[in-house]
Amino acid sequence: MDNKKRIISGMRPTGKLHLGHYFGVLKNWVELQNEFESYFFIADYHALTTKYNQTQDMKQNVEEILLDWLASGIDPNKSTIYLQSLVPQTAQLHIYLSMITPQNWVERDPTLKDLAKIMDSKKENLSNLSYGLFGYPVLMSADILLFNTHFVPVGIDQVAHVELTRDIARRFNNIYKTDFFLEPQPKLTKISLLKGLDGNKMGKSFNNDIKLSDDETTTEKKIKTGITDRNRVRKDDFGNPDNCEVIFDYWKIFGEEKEVEEICSCCKSASIGCAECKKRLAQRVNESLCEIRQKRSELEKDKNYIRDILLEGSKKARIKAQETIDNIESIIGMFK
Ligand code: TRP
Repeated sequence: MDNKKRIISGMRPTGKLHLGHYFGVLKNWVELQNEFESYFFIADYHALTTKYNQTQDMKQNVEEILLDWLASGIDPNKSTIYLQSLVPQTAQLHIYLSMITPQNWVERDPTLKDLAKIMDSKKENLSNLSYGLFGYPVLMSADILLFNTHFVPVGIDQVAHVELTRDIARRFNNIYKTDFFLEPQPKLTKISLLKGLDGNKMGKSFNNDIKLSDDETTTEKKIKTGITDRNRVRKDDFGNPDNCEVIFDYWKIFGEEKEVEEICSCCKSASIGCAECKKRLAQRVNESLCEIRQKRSELEKDKNYIRDILLEGSKKARIKAQETIDNIESIIGMFK
């Protein structure tokens, strides 16, 4: 057995992933899985906290996210990939943690207020939340503590949840006079440069995203809508890449240095227009996603295969998770 440190992270199954997810999260996971004992899970219980009455897409969404992960290089031979609801030990641990977590610790979690707003745009009132949604941060603590992970690779928006997890772990250890739980640390993902095509944060609800699974024509059409230098109205106006709101950022990610320099000087001298620049960019984007997209459509042909990966991973996760449950039940003093 090697002594790799453990990481865990999850995503709610909300549909097909976009480039923001890939460059902001997935690419990072793909690298981390070489260095850490890695757990990546699809957080379907968490999806239910807000989508309990819109479950008709759930199965499809689980499948889509799994395809996106596998196509991007999350490797079932390196990482444990599982579905949260197939590891019900998560729910068991959630119950135990909920007993020792003061309500006001949960209320302090700033993310919860945002969730409350999503559920009801007028109210930020936490008492209107369902019991399950209120417990979102504690459920997340259960995810993390279930495998006693050292690090949690997340974006800055999730750090408060990891802080709460540390507090809960410490409280458990104090109450039951043990040092069983580690205090997991957030492992911040570098924020992706990739904005949505309209300049806002990339998100499917803003209709400004490029999906990993979009085809080449769709990608090109979407890139055509991308914001450039707003002062450059006509093609023979001199452009300024520093004022190019979106498209030039994409070049920095998808272009080779030499071509980016060329685009830059052609823009400044007005020898290339925004339309052509976007067309060339679309080619680069499509080239760089080609492999992922090919792999995705291969995998899509064999639904049983990807289903088996999820079932196998979940089985592996259950075995580890049960060890934790056995340990903490004996620490708490439950009848065995
Ligand atoms: N809350 C996370 C999100 O919305 C998803 C998540 C659930 C998660 N449980 C987790 C992430 C545990 C890391 C670890 O993105």
